[in-house]
Amino acid sequence: MKRIFSGVKPTGHLTLGNYLGAVRRWVEVDQHRADALFSVVDLHALTVEHDPARVRRLSRQAATLLMAAGLDPELCTLFVQSHVDEHARLSYLLECTATDGELRRMIQYKEKSVRAQAAGQGVRLSLLTYPVLMAADILAYGADEVPVGEDQTQHVELTRDLAVRFNQRYGHTFTVPRATRPEVAARVMDLQDPTSKMGKSHENGAGIVYLLDDADTVRRKIMRAVTDSGRDVEYDREAGPGVANLLDLLAAATGGNPEALAGVYETYGSLKKDTADAVVELLRPVRERHAELAADPGQVDLVLRDGARRARETARPLVDRAYRAIGLLPAG
Ligand code: TYM
Repeated sequence: MKRIFSGVKPTGHLTLGNYLGAVRRWVEVDQHRADALFSVVDLHALTVEHDPARVRRLSRQAATLLMAAGLDPELCTLFVQSHVDEHARLSYLLECTATDGELRRMIQYKEKSVRAQAAGQGVRLSLLTYPVLMAADILAYGADEVPVGEDQTQHVELTRDLAVRFNQRYGHTFTVPRATRPEVAARVMDLQDPTSKMGKSHENGAGIVYLLDDADTVRRKIMRAVTDSGRDVEYDREAGPGVANLLDLLAAATGGNPEALAGVYETYGSLKKDTADAVVELLRPVRERHAELAADPGQVDLVLRDGARRARETARPLVDRAYRAIGLLPAG
């Protein structure tokens, strides 16, 4: 059976981008067809300026939302990264496999380190080593596939490189994973700035649909989305990124095809209205289920505890094998 690993980091409230780019597929496809593990990767949330209480709150909220979206602990393993020591253990071995140069080339490192410096904050060393920890997340479970949005492609490529390099130097230890992406909405764009990704830690929330936004808020954000200067509804991500983004959202929410949908609409207004309605309906059950689950946090905690136990059992032997392969003396 295939093994799948993916994760979401609790740096902000989960967005429609997270849902369409990753979570929805985990729920609808991945957990049914593979031995799938999904993690709230909280250690990754410490790589930039953070508030401890907020990270803790967002971690529980993310886990609750993943269950509300439909991850089923009977079908998959859901856990919090910091509950399983194997991630940090393996990360160090991979730091001894990666080079400084290849980490400095990572696009997200470049972007986020510039942002931290502009805000007068130091760049945490862990921001540089972030992709190594991400590689450890994946390799510790021998994952074959990593379902992610488009922005994670470079990180999964690095994971592959590290796995191959480790295997060549120290003997076959790791499965070389591959990224999988959704056909539509692999990169949902910000509604106010459709040339940049809809990201949960973006400053201005007006262009971001959060999974917990109420129906009126979702509708307002989509109706106010920036569109392009042209008049025709065309699917052209370069020339008309705002309209293309709306078509992607509508297609993802209704199961249609963005190019075909472009032919159906004459005005931006009607496209926005239908997109808003479709997204509201898509998110309604998630929000409702979240409210039920949030009323009983003990249930979520139990799922996470059991998930961590299962994750540990899976990762432990593989990480132990890597420790031996790289030359460390086994503890008696
Ligand atoms: P994160 O928390 O930023 O995002 C979680 C998932 O959502 C996808 N995503 C998007 N997809 C489409 N459009 C968007 N606007 C959008 N925004 C986010 C992301 O691609 C991701 O799949 N580094 C990862 C977390 C991570 C991880 C891992 C993922 C840590 N270790 C191991 C997979 C395997 C991240 O920051 O995701």
